[in-house]
Amino acid sequence: MKIIKVKNYDEMSDKSAEILASVVKAEPHATLGLATGSTVLGTYDRLVEMYKRGEISFADISSFNLDEYVGLGGDSDQSYVHYMRKHLFCRTDFDLKNTHLPDGAAENAEEECARYSALLAANPRRIQLLGLGSDGHIGFNEPYSPFDGTTHVAELAESTISDNSRLFERLDDVPRKAITMGIAEIMQARSILILVSGAAKAEAVRAMVNGEVNESCPASVLQRHGDVTLIVDEAAAGLL
Ligand code: F6R
Repeated sequence: MKIIKVKNYDEMSDKSAEILASVVKAEPHATLGLATGSTVLGTYDRLVEMYKRGEISFADISSFNLDEYVGLGGDSDQSYVHYMRKHLFCRTDFDLKNTHLPDGAAENAEEECARYSALLAANPRRIQLLGLGSDGHIGFNEPYSPFDGTTHVAELAESTISDNSRLFERLDDVPRKAITMGIAEIMQARSILILVSGAAKAEAVRAMVNGEVNESCPASVLQRHGDVTLIVDEAAAGLL
């Protein structure tokens, strides 16, 4: 794992946007694996700025997101499809028909998982962007998710529900389930870029980088991937 230590969130975002932009410039038809959450917001802001300056275009880029809450569709402000349109897709020249997320509002979530998994199999990702959960999750693969898992309905851990409740009015409003790309599918990306900021994630970073590779820390599986870049700020790197 290549580790890039930076001072703070802003430097992390500068560096990650630079890496993603270099992929988009070199391979304008690339397929990207994308994430939501607070960590990647600064990266998306910088990509939007580069687009506005005419430095990059997403017109021929395809994307596949990691996850979506079960029960939430595009009409919900809390859905990840809404988040992606608001923070990246609709601020740039992404063609919405080339952007993909699991459909949280699908009538049959199991069928939706199978549909999304087949799409992923047919569309290898050039680079997968990841954040890290304070419990070591990647996507919504919580501790003890199998390393060979594909897209599935995941029950969110209590710590994840509480971490994500800041984006909802009440704790009870946070969905308990999500459709998530499985660990095996995350690992299929040619390269992986994982961003971590803040002291609350320091223990998860330690377990991911220096811990044993096992399902108690889902992100530890990244030690087995040949092309992973971790960008970590000083606070999150505190236990390395
Ligand atoms: C988001 C995702 C999650 C987040 C993780 C960190 O699509 O799959 O794994 O990356 O929960 O979230 P933040 O960045 O909000 O701390």
